[in-house]
Amino acid sequence: MSNTAEQNRTLFLGIDLGTSRTTMMSNRGAQEVVRSVVGYPKDIIGVKLLDKTNIVGDEALEKRSYLNLHFPLEDGVLKEASEKDTQAARELIQHVISLANPQPGDKICGIVGVPARASISNKNQLLRITDELMDFSMVVSEPFMVAYGLNKLTNSIIVDIGAGTVDICAMKGTIPGSEEQITLMKAGNHVDTFLATAISESYPGVQITPALAQKIKDQYGYVGQPRQDIVVNLRSEGKPQPHEITKEVGAACNTILADIVENIEQLITVFDPEDQDDAVSNIILAGGGSRLIGLDEFLTVSLADYGPVNVVRVSDAVFSGCAGALKMATELPVDYWNQVGDVIGG
Ligand SMILES: Nc1ncnc2c1ncn2[C@@H]1O[C@H](COP(=O)(O)OP(=O)(O)OP(=O)(O)O)[C@@H](O)[C@H]1O
Ligand SMILES: [Mg+2]
Repeated sequence: MSNTAEQNRTLFLGIDLGTSRTTMMSNRGAQEVVRSVVGYPKDIIGVKLLDKTNIVGDEALEKRSYLNLHFPLEDGVLKEASEKDTQAARELIQHVISLANPQPGDKICGIVGVPARASISNKNQLLRITDELMDFSMVVSEPFMVAYGLNKLTNSIIVDIGAGTVDICAMKGTIPGSEEQITLMKAGNHVDTFLATAISESYPGVQITPALAQKIKDQYGYVGQPRQDIVVNLRSEGKPQPHEITKEVGAACNTILADIVENIEQLITVFDPEDQDDAVSNIILAGGGSRLIGLDEFLTVSLADYGPVNVVRVSDAVFSGCAGALKMATELPVDYWNQVGDVIGG
């Protein structure tokens, strides 16, 4: 087969395996977001109703009443508690691959992003799954993928604020090592839980869950001074009524900031002194949490002592990770993959 013919038979995939959602892009134009959840029928009636043995994504949440739900990722890494967790992870990845519509005879080559400092055993477990499902696969760190996609591989700092983890990475023109990457466990989910508690403390009797708190945060979440009063309809004793929650939203979003600032400061010091100005003027915010109102301004002010700070958000917080992974998959000859990330048999 000629080189081009072989290229045409290769399906390249970029996958960002997230705690709350998994995204995928292919070299043939597929682009999908799937909630990172798998549902299994509770009993034989569920099997009959569904006519299948599992459901992945939003549909699983909708039909939760007759399903057992499994969220295969926790705090940004694969749950390893039981065989069922591993199975759920496999089914999630398999589902995402199927959305790329592979054809018989295709060679599937995929790059999968994981949190910056996922444990070695965890990476190996993930690799075993991807190796089973694809012809060639590699696992790389999430912020590195974002940096690759934006062509910011040198003198930049990537801050990826997800649901389970905040991943911060110093890009120095080489594959980031362990001292250049930090994973923080307090991220979006932590803000949601805090906000739900804060609201129920301020308004006892109001019905609030972390899922509802997340919706409020996604719409109104802010850092620094509030831009407006936040008033939302909340139900108490079943009846929706307006409640003012400006202070609660601000306090909840604030809970993740000190760690983020402290760890960016820590990573600035891993650059050579003559590169530090460049690094602080190239701070990139990615992940869903990068959309918090005022976050860029807050970081600019907090880091002002370190030089001419410039903080930018990625233009697409949902797809920037998997877009970078796909770019890497298509640009980097497969023979080199084992120099960049972790591969089995590479
Ligand atoms: N506009 C917004 N403002 C604040 N937070 C938001 C906004 N939109 C989404 N988020 C939050 O971003 C998080 C999801 O981001 P993302 O999809 O990057 O996470 P993930 O990749 O699934 O998680 P992780 O990287 O930790 O595994 C959720 O906590 C969500 O509430
Ligand atoms: Mg993520």
